[in-house]
Amino acid sequence: MKLGIIGCGGIANGKHMPNLKKLKDVEMVAFCDIIIERAEKAAAEYGVPGARVYSDYRELLENEKEIDNIHVLTPNRMHSIISAAALKAGKNVMCEKPMAINYDEAKKMLEARDESGKLLTIGYQHRQDPDVQYVKKEALKGTFGKIYFAKARVLRRRGVPIWGVFQNEYEQGGGCLVDVGTHALDTVLWLMDNYEPKYVVGSVYHELSKLPEEMQGNPFGCWKQEEFQVEDSAFGYIVMKNGSTVILESSWALNMLEGEAVQYELCGTLAGCDNFTDGSLRINGVKNGNMYIEKPSFNKGGVAFYEGTAVDPRAMEQKVFHDACLGKGELTVLPEQAAVVTRILDAIYESQRIGGPVYFD
Ligand SMILES: NC(=O)c1ccc[n+]([C@@H]2O[C@H](COP(=O)([O-])OP(=O)(O)OC[C@H]3O[C@@H](n4cnc5c(N)ncnc54)[C@H](O)[C@@H]3O)[C@@H](O)[C@H]2O)c1
Repeated sequence: MKLGIIGCGGIANGKHMPNLKKLKDVEMVAFCDIIIERAEKAAAEYGVPGARVYSDYRELLENEKEIDNIHVLTPNRMHSIISAAALKAGKNVMCEKPMAINYDEAKKMLEARDESGKLLTIGYQHRQDPDVQYVKKEALKGTFGKIYFAKARVLRRRGVPIWGVFQNEYEQGGGCLVDVGTHALDTVLWLMDNYEPKYVVGSVYHELSKLPEEMQGNPFGCWKQEEFQVEDSAFGYIVMKNGSTVILESSWALNMLEGEAVQYELCGTLAGCDNFTDGSLRINGVKNGNMYIEKPSFNKGGVAFYEGTAVDPRAMEQKVFHDACLGKGELTVLPEQAAVVTRILDAIYESQRIGGPVYFD
């Protein structure tokens, strides 16, 4: 498989390129970034000898006829534009989350996918987390019964990204909700296997973004109040057509003590589960007249000289996509599912704007 990387910043260097490099049948042959030095550095570090570099994705798509797959790793606004262009150029596409800056843009990606007959997937790597995979298998077996109440949370006490364009409304389409809330909601909807929202009530806040530097305490460094255009926290109450309820909580900065990671809690008619305590999975239920808590262990590490069988979820995400492109398996993240996540996040913003619930067709 010959690959092109578009956007050579944090997530390209932190997730995609190092994990793609581990796959045997993959060659990274072209790299694009509007900051050309980033494309050059990526080509030198991860590319095949003679890998080409570009500062304009359109030139890459025009020139690189032999490329099979494109990874779209730019800020959010360009996700739909570049993904649709790459699909129309006959490439399979792995696009980072969130799928797009809004549902209308997400639909354009689905249309381009349908027209091209190529594969499109979105970078929700938490679906590959061992605990999430375990819960999914249990959910499919019916362990939880009907899941009628769930919580999806990513609450950072302080964790405002200050690099790139994360605080820029035009480039990103939103703040913590589309950046981290999107992961939590995606995880929970997938575990519930429920993509039919009925209505949404949302609250969106720009509160701690107004703090002066001495009250920020942000581990990534201080933000500038005047550049912080997007929300610092957002919450949603989502009612599904089958009556199930999901509460979504997301923040980059909130005066609270729990949270940080992607968290989920599922409550079903037969059992429940959560990862709220130190990130470990707990399954709760009643057996033989007594309440129980089960804590599966995901320690697949080896001993001295033997590695064990642990697989990094970020590596698994790349492998699943490439196997699917080779016809050796199914995608884990379907773009139709990611589009529903985007639609619900849109509705949270809209609910805040109109001051009431947003109903779906
Ligand atoms: N899956 C995850 O957990 C995760 C984590 C972090 C970021 N992301 C997503 O990855 C995307 C990028 O985030 P990042 O942290 O890498 O940001 P970043 O700012 O570090 O990198 C983005 C890169 O894209 C380049 N770029 C901008 N516009 C471009 C264009 N039109 N063509 C080519 N290159 C362009 C920038 O110059 C930059 O190098 C975002 O959509 C973000 O939501 C996902």
